[in-house]
Amino acid sequence: MKGLKEYRDKVAVVTGASSGIGAELARELARRGMRVALVARRRDRLEQLAEGIQTSGGQAAVHVCDVSSRAAVEKACADVVAAWGGIDLLVNSAGYGRHVLLKDHDIEDIERITQVNYLGTVYWIKAALPQMRVRGSGWIVNVSSFAGVTPQPDEAAYAASKWAVTGLSESIAPELEPLGIHVLVVHPVLVRTEMFTPDVMARLPDSSEGTFIEAPEFVRDLLRALERGKTSVVIPGRYAVAPILCKLFPRLIGGAMSRVKLRGLPDLTS
Ligand SMILES: NC(=O)c1ccc[n+]([C@@H]2O[C@H](COP(=O)([O-])OP(=O)(O)OC[C@H]3O[C@@H](n4cnc5c(N)ncnc54)[C@H](OP(=O)(O)O)[C@@H]3O)[C@@H](O)[C@H]2O)c1
Repeated sequence: MKGLKEYRDKVAVVTGASSGIGAELARELARRGMRVALVARRRDRLEQLAEGIQTSGGQAAVHVCDVSSRAAVEKACADVVAAWGGIDLLVNSAGYGRHVLLKDHDIEDIERITQVNYLGTVYWIKAALPQMRVRGSGWIVNVSSFAGVTPQPDEAAYAASKWAVTGLSESIAPELEPLGIHVLVVHPVLVRTEMFTPDVMARLPDSSEGTFIEAPEFVRDLLRALERGKTSVVIPGRYAVAPILCKLFPRLIGGAMSRVKLRGLPDLTS
């Protein structure tokens, strides 16, 4: 098992870098001396972040890319390798969710969620792997979710896309480790980011307020897990027992989740 301990002059790709977890992680990796390729769709946000990093003495480059497009991912990956010679660390953080009952969730959005959250991760891994294999080293961090290890009755399509990311990550970790490539899958519980719009916040139970952590704390725990060579981490760590309980008592946990999460969700077709 190998952790990432030396950052200086290494190259990182961070998807979803235009806000939230990705932006905070990109800032911290640059602060530690990495050259960081910033990937997302909103150019203005990425340019603002790159400027901030450069002003602080770091190195960053903007790569506008919709991760749901395989061709766009392959081009962005080739551009990073051409500019900086390779990719040491790939962080797949791009993603979005939707709080809606499955019966009311339009199929186009379910396809889109799967394409962005799951296939976007696959496209980036497949694009970055060949040069990691040639170099015999690399780190891949996939941002799954607490919803990728527990049932989430009010966001089934999102949860399924994240379970797919979890399954992919845990399956490729033993495949890639002998090739010198380390895979870490991360399960955030609640991190205060733009993902939590006022609409979503209004639906959350009051008790969830104490569960939120800020992005810098999340990034600190993520990088500690990566440094220690972990392959999976729930952040904050006090919730790490939940996936184990889910496996042991699926109906009990599923029932409890339904009681907490379905109360505020409108039934659109009843
Ligand atoms: N915050 C939490 O509590 C929490 C909990 C569990 C899991 N997560 C996961 O953590 C990751 C980051 O979320 P966040 O909380 O930081 O939310 P956020 O602030 O909304 O950031 C989401 C990022 O994903 C990018 N993105 C979305 N669709 C994209 C696409 N098609 N192509 C490229 N980039 C795309 C967005 O950039 P553009 O719009 O500019 O493209 C943005 O940079 C997500 O995968 C999310 O599912 C977050």
